[in-house]
Amino acid sequence: MSKQLPQAPTVKALRQRVARWRRDKLKVALVPTMGALHEGHLSLVDHANALADRTVVSIFVNPAQFAAGEDLTTYPRDLEGDLAKLSSRKANLVFVPTGEEMYPEGFATSVAVKGPAAVELEDKHRPHFFTGVATVVAKLLIQAGCDFAVFGEKDYQQLMTVTRMAADLDIATKIVGAPTIRHEDGLAMSSRNAYLSDYERVVAPLLHKTLQETAEELRVSGDVETCLRKARRALNKASFRVDYVEARNGETLKKLMGTSDEPIRLLAAASLGKTRLIDNIAV
Ligand code: PAF
Repeated sequence: MSKQLPQAPTVKALRQRVARWRRDKLKVALVPTMGALHEGHLSLVDHANALADRTVVSIFVNPAQFAAGEDLTTYPRDLEGDLAKLSSRKANLVFVPTGEEMYPEGFATSVAVKGPAAVELEDKHRPHFFTGVATVVAKLLIQAGCDFAVFGEKDYQQLMTVTRMAADLDIATKIVGAPTIRHEDGLAMSSRNAYLSDYERVVAPLLHKTLQETAEELRVSGDVETCLRKARRALNKASFRVDYVEARNGETLKKLMGTSDEPIRLLAAASLGKTRLIDNIAV
């Protein structure tokens, strides 16, 4: 058990601690997580530490963003390990609410999101997901009342959705995106990588490699459909089951307009065995 790192199990305790910091004119950043922390999450903590004087990390495996049959019950959990890692990365407070604290008896509200949450990417394959994320993130932002909240670019559609939602609901917290952290072979860090078999772990980096090659080809040829078709074929051949490989406007996530100054983002989701991987890069 980590002794140094204070924990807030309730919204009241979280608010008291943050209010004290804000009274002392300290800037506060929040890093929302579902635990099972890896270097990707810890880089978000570093990012938050660089932005603010105090960093709060929330750890809550949010049932509202899992559909029936998804991995809610088996989602990796390691609170002791997480606390030790957060201590060593100089987080100042860990918010660890129970399910009952977040969704008490009679809870009857959800945040419905459209815009970047309704563009037929993740939303097409996980229709429940962004309502669950937007609801819990809205709650966390309101509960913590922080100056900043840091999210990884790895979940790019989530980052765009949360940014839109905070702006639309006039939530004063500034949403900040932080770069994807990768293993040496290019695989984006993710808690779900733990599900990969040894063989699948060897194949998995091909997702990022394919996106890189596709971005390169797109820059040269500009022929979006041909490049995407080739990418899907390469992944299928390497035994991925492809949900999508798409090139989208990097801000709205809508289909490309084809103008020369448009920011382009390549986004992909594909499964290896029972593990679903997502990744994205700027072109
Ligand atoms: O990205 C995640 O880990 C989760 O979707 C988040 C943002 C913590 C909400 O539960």
